[in-house]
Amino acid sequence: MPLTIIHTVREMQDLSDSLRLKGKTIACVPTMGYLHDGHASLIREAVKYHDQVITTIFVNPTQFGPNEDFERYPRDPERDLAIIEASGGSIVYFPTVEEMYPPDYQTTISVSNISKRFEGLFRPGHFEGVATVVAKLFGATKPHSAYFGQKDYQQTLIIKQMVKDLNMGVIISIVPTLRESNGLAMSSRNVYLSEEEKKQAQVLHRALVKGLSIIQDGIRSKIEIEQVLHETLQECPEFQVQYASVAYAESLESSDIFLGNKDLVLLIAGFLGKTRLIDNMLCLSKS
Ligand code: PAJ
Repeated sequence: MPLTIIHTVREMQDLSDSLRLKGKTIACVPTMGYLHDGHASLIREAVKYHDQVITTIFVNPTQFGPNEDFERYPRDPERDLAIIEASGGSIVYFPTVEEMYPPDYQTTISVSNISKRFEGLFRPGHFEGVATVVAKLFGATKPHSAYFGQKDYQQTLIIKQMVKDLNMGVIISIVPTLRESNGLAMSSRNVYLSEEEKKQAQVLHRALVKGLSIIQDGIRSKIEIEQVLHETLQECPEFQVQYASVAYAESLESSDIFLGNKDLVLLIAGFLGKTRLIDNMLCLSKS
């Protein structure tokens, strides 16, 4: 089946309404395009459990800060469509900025507590942009379920909280982070990295693996865990750390000593040259 490509809210809603009337299940996979295998893994997962998978492609201006990379964010729609088709996606929602944010646009969604930590501290306004655009994408695609990557861990918590608080009735599924063979988490922004920087960027994964191993050895002190993360990151002095920390996975709240029976998450962000990188690793209490 050829891909159905839709550009307007009205056409998208009409198609989703008619699919729902026919009893079809719909999954939504929101993306900003320039797709890689991490994105494809979300589509492949969604295809397993739904009749129709709508991949959205929209580089959302409201989630970029004034000095961030909105203008130069990589784009390649033709390649994206080929990846979506090869992954089993059937529908692509590809709105313009004007369609999403007409001149009289006024509403913003803010998920208060979780947005204040980590990414929220370094990217003010980012999560308001994300929550708002995802709510709008859900309003247009009317999905039963939506798929997000663990790569953006804090984002997944924010979306889940928003869906719960606003009774959106969308089931949120989280897909594990897909990595290059050297451990580097796949990201559209990796295209900014030189070959040398791609090697240096492995340090994030190395630090996370070391952090995970000391937690698995029973260390629960925040200072000790953060020290291991920072010591490993120092192996690559070019990486400018913004945060390298540990938190409760459910709430992103912190503690001097973490409880042994709760899931934790290790989180790292910083700059390699001009490229901002983030990564994380879950440490499940039962694993
Ligand atoms: P984008 O960065 O394009 O990512 C789209 C989805 O792909 C997100 O859910 C992200 O977590 C997931 N993803 C990215 N890299 C991944 C990897 N290596 N493995 C698995 N999943 C990965 O995240 C956004 O866009 C935007 O904030 C969006 C939710 C679309 C709202 O604008």
